[in-house]
Amino acid sequence: MPSSGWCAVVDTRIHVSAERDYDVVIGRGLLSSLPDMLRGSQRVAVIHPGTLLVSAEAIRQDLSDSGFEVTLIEVPDAEDAKTSDVAAFCWSVLGTAGLTRSDSIVGLGGGATTDLAGFVAATWLRGIRVVHIPTTLLAMVDAAVGGKTGINTAAGKNLVGSFWSPGGVLCDINSLETLPRNDLLAGMAEVVKIGFVRDTSILDDVERDAAAATDPAGDLLPDLIRRAVQVKADVVSRDFREVSATAGDGSIGREVLNYGHTFGHAVERREKYRWRHGAAVAVGMMFVAELAALGGRLPESDVDRHRSVLDGLGLPTTYSAGHWDELLAAMAVDKKARGSLLRFVVLQGIGNPVIWEGPDPALLAAAYASISR
Ligand code: GLY
Repeated sequence: MPSSGWCAVVDTRIHVSAERDYDVVIGRGLLSSLPDMLRGSQRVAVIHPGTLLVSAEAIRQDLSDSGFEVTLIEVPDAEDAKTSDVAAFCWSVLGTAGLTRSDSIVGLGGGATTDLAGFVAATWLRGIRVVHIPTTLLAMVDAAVGGKTGINTAAGKNLVGSFWSPGGVLCDINSLETLPRNDLLAGMAEVVKIGFVRDTSILDDVERDAAAATDPAGDLLPDLIRRAVQVKADVVSRDFREVSATAGDGSIGREVLNYGHTFGHAVERREKYRWRHGAAVAVGMMFVAELAALGGRLPESDVDRHRSVLDGLGLPTTYSAGHWDELLAAMAVDKKARGSLLRFVVLQGIGNPVIWEGPDPALLAAAYASISR
């Protein structure tokens, strides 16, 4: 991430209307837009992992030059940041720094950091502004956009949190040039998820040229990010709090974004959060594709398309056998379950998602068998 002389090269603005309105800006070298997004604040706390200290220091310098009082709050890397202890540490630093209702938090990092920063912002003084600067693909297309915030507890992932729209999101594509390859590919799982459930042109482009689709220096990846964020912005604008199984126009609501996530979260939990989220979602999408096929809803050719798209990106499509009881128990406490019934987003054809509540347990076990090795 550049530290000075920032200037927007490509600059796409996607508007989200979700309890509050905000823009997601996608481009290269965007950090000169940050002071504007923080206008009205005197103090700014930047929550960041230690690995991004250099970027955080550069932001501190830039914001100080613009007249803000800046405090850096360093938190553990990745999912280790999403604990009640780390949130409490952030609250204590905010207290010492004297952040008031008109002040702001900046969440700089991957999805775990922006989830934590959003949660801390949502809870401090019952809610202050947060601006996200996602530095991973997964955070750009999913975690940092849409206002879901949260931490993990012993009971499961993201079970404690709140809906809290950011004041803005800056997706600087240049950040992706230094992102480890496996993290970039894991983020592609959320991009192709949007392809499977809504914008099938994403799948066409990934199938045509997976190398170009995953090249942060090229033009295709920023365009895929733009299309994925546009779908997410539309979905979130219609059903911010994920209350409607169907949105106003009869289409499925925000739950559509959970495609592959019910089984994926169970895998993450079983793997003690050492798997990348995107890798778990990839396996989760295979699971629901097999489930839909077993239920007569999705043709085998579309299941094969899932496998070939995910394989083409180097994402996992199978999971180890012998853990069904544990995975089923984890799915039962996932927040996507309602009452005692498991709910899945499944496809009745690519691009045509529906909710399937309470599938036959034998079909669920058979879907697991289909992806087990
Ligand atoms: N990651 C799913 C959602 O934002 O609703």
